Amino acid sequence: MKILIINGPNLNWLGRREPEIYGSESFEDIFQELKLEFPQAEMLHVQSNVEGEIINELQKAEDDTSITGIILNAAAYTHTSIAIADTLKSMKTPVILVHLSNIYNREPERHTDLLLANADGCILGLGKKSYFAAAYLLNLRLRV
Ligand code: DQA
Repeated sequence: MKILIINGPNLNWLGRREPEIYGSESFEDIFQELKLEFPQAEMLHVQSNVEGEIINELQKAEDDTSITGIILNAAAYTHTSIAIADTLKSMKTPVILVHLSNIYNREPERHTDLLLANADGCILGLGKKSYFAAAYLLNLRLRV
């Protein structure tokens, strides 16, 4: 199992960014924990603040037959990006969306998710555990 985690804008600031919402750990800390939790999986992580780079990463992953699943936190692009939605629509690699926060009990502009219709599923509101749950489900799905 090879899982690629793609994090979008401002997630490189996890730990220092609104810790009351997103927690006080950096993504690097969370990533180390994930690797320990899923020793059987090869875990890769990329982060970008740029919409087109996220699309490039998705397309590259789709063409890389060794990647078995993708965990995508598109951050604010979740609510705005028809471009990322279009990319997801043409992908066969399983993609699970994640959010640290529960976007549905936050500001109204976060209640729209343009990506979910074109993804395999979404896990949200569990803090860092959203990533763990997504990795667990990708693992299950691929073993079937
Ligand atoms: C987020 C939620 C988004 O609304 C926000 O723009 C983010 C992070 C989350 O993980 O909770 O940057 O995707």
